[in-house]
Amino acid sequence: MDFEKLKQEVQKHLPGEEGKKRFAHIERVYALAIKIAKEENADLEIIKAASLLHDVAKIKEERKECKCHADEGSLMAREILKKLDFPKEKIEAVCYAIKVHRKSKGIEAKTKEAKILQDADRVC
Ligand SMILES: [Fe+2]
Ligand SMILES: [Fe+2]
Repeated sequence: MDFEKLKQEVQKHLPGEEGKKRFAHIERVYALAIKIAKEENADLEIIKAASLLHDVAKIKEERKECKCHADEGSLMAREILKKLDFPKEKIEAVCYAIKVHRKSKGIEAKTKEAKILQDADRVC
């Protein structure tokens, strides 16, 4: 699947100056998560999609259009990935990683990919 297309899709949901900052963070998380995923033999497609989409609902949350950007982002990710050409059998794993990415919520990540996303997000 074309991850450049996915980046463009994510940017549509992150408008303005604040959106630009959020997207810069997303690109840092994306780069670091890929690096860790290669070392740990994690699924790269899941990692790429999850890291690009993990904060897709961040502006929505700031505008109080949703309660939790992780929950909302997980729902949005499902729709976006269905629309693009992402492998169907991997969609749930991406949505799960996004749903639990927020360390402050104290949810333990149960998959390798979700753990990598949490770790990358924390340092970026
Ligand atoms: Fe987040
Ligand atoms: Fe993040």
